[in-house]
Amino acid sequence: MDKVHVINYQEFQSLAELEEKDRRLMQCAVEAAEGAYAPYSGFHVGAALRLGNGTVVVGSNQENVAYPSGLCAERTAIFSASAQHPECRDYETLAIVGRNAEGTLCEAMPCGACRQVLSEYEQRQGHPMRVLCYLDGGRLRIFESVASLLPFSFDF
Ligand code: THU
Repeated sequence: MDKVHVINYQEFQSLAELEEKDRRLMQCAVEAAEGAYAPYSGFHVGAALRLGNGTVVVGSNQENVAYPSGLCAERTAIFSASAQHPECRDYETLAIVGRNAEGTLCEAMPCGACRQVLSEYEQRQGHPMRVLCYLDGGRLRIFESVASLLPFSFDF
C-alpha cells in the first residue's frame, strides 16, 4: 500500500515577518558565522540555539585539513550547549544561516548528520525543537520540529 509523508513548514519573505525573538536569534546566527573557520570550502555557517531559559548558544563550522575531522555549525552549537549547560538541555529553536565566499548570506539547510544529532536531543527532551533556516534572497523557512526534517530516524 502506498503511503505519503507530508512535511509542514512555514515560509517567510524576509526577516521583518518574523517574531522579534526569532529575528534576534537569526541575527545571532549571522554574527556566529563570523566565528567560522572555513579555509577549505570558503562557506561560513552560523547557528544560534535558544534554550528554554532564554540562553542563546552559538556555533559555526570548524574545518580541518583532514576534511572529515571538521564539524558543522549546528553540531558545534548543540554539543556546546549540552556541554556548557547540562542543567538546561531544553532546546527551543535553532537558527541557521550560510555565508558564501562572496560574503552573501545564503541558504544552509542542516545536513543529514546534523539532523540525526539534533533529532536525538529532540527525542530526549520530549518536545519539539523548532528549526529556522535562512534561504537565498533573504527568505526564511521554519520547521516546527527536527522530526519533520528527519522522518523515520534511526533508533534502537
Ligand atoms: N556545513 C555546516 O556547517 N552545516 C551544514 O548543515 C552543512 C555544511 C559546513 C561544513 C563545511 O565546513 C561547509 O559547510 C561546506 O560544506
